[in-house]
Amino acid sequence: MVGAVSENPQATWYDAVRPQRRIGGAIEVHETIASTNDRARELLDLPEGDGCVVVAEEQSAGRGRRGRTWTSPPGHNLTASVGIRPRLRARDGWQIGLAAALAARDACSGLVPVALKWPNDLMDAGDGRKVGGMLVETVVEGDRLSAAVIGIGINVNWRRDDMPPELVDGATSLIELVGSEVDRVGLLRRLLEALDLEIMLVEAGRSPRDRYRAACSTIGATVTVDAAGGMIEGRAIDIDALGSLVVETAAGKISVTSGEVASVRRVVTA
Ligand code: BTN
Repeated sequence: MVGAVSENPQATWYDAVRPQRRIGGAIEVHETIASTNDRARELLDLPEGDGCVVVAEEQSAGRGRRGRTWTSPPGHNLTASVGIRPRLRARDGWQIGLAAALAARDACSGLVPVALKWPNDLMDAGDGRKVGGMLVETVVEGDRLSAAVIGIGINVNWRRDDMPPELVDGATSLIELVGSEVDRVGLLRRLLEALDLEIMLVEAGRSPRDRYRAACSTIGATVTVDAAGGMIEGRAIDIDALGSLVVETAAGKISVTSGEVASVRRVVTA
C-alpha cells in the first residue's frame, strides 16, 4: 500500500520539495509557530512566496473554520499551509476550497478511502468521523483574487486513545483507519502534487465542481446545516455552479454558500 509504512526517521519534510513545481517548490519547517496560515500569508509579500509551503510540528494558535481552534499534538499529524497569488477572478474563488478538498482526498486515497463532507472536511468513509479539514483564507482586490492561503490539517498518527475528550467522539486519524503508522512526508508529497495539479486546472478555467460533486458524501444524505441564517434541515441534493450546497427542505430548495453540515443521516434501504 502506497505510503502505509512506518515513518522513516531519516526522512524530513524537505524531502517533499519539488523545485520545478509551483506548489511545494520550497518548504519552510517550524517546530512551533502560531499558525501556518499566517506565515504562508506573510510569505506572499516576498516574490518567491507564491507556492511556498509552511509546515509546523506544533501550532500555538492553529485555527479551524468558523473561528474554532485547531488542536493537533506535536509530531503526530500534518499541519501545513500554502499561499498562492491565484490567476483567478474573485467570483471563482470558491473553487479553491473544493480543489483543495479533492487534493487532500487524493493524497489519502492511496492509504485508505476517505469521504468529503461539504465544504472542506475529510471523513472516515465508514463512520463519518473527521480525519482532517481545510481552512482557505482569501484576499480580494477589485474583481480579482489577489491572494489565497490554503491551510490543511490531517490527523495522521494521532491515536484516538490520545485525543482529548471533547474531540474523541467526532474525530479519528489515518493510523486508526490504516491500522499502522503512516509516513507523513509521503502524505505531504502526494498532497502537494495533487494540489499543484488542482490549482492549475482551476486557473485554466476547469471548475472542480463536477468531480467534487461526485466525491462528496454529503450529497444524497439527510442533513442539518448550520448556515449564516440559521439551521436548515433537508436532503442535500447538489453542489451548484457556485459551489454552494443545495438542500431540498420542506419549504423548497435552498442554496447554502457557507455553513457547516452539523449532522448527516443516510437512509439505509433493505
Ligand atoms: C477545519 O476543519 O475547521 C479547518 C482546519 C484547518 C487546520 C489547518 S492546520 C494548518 C493550517 N493552519 C491553521 O491555523 N489552520 C490550518
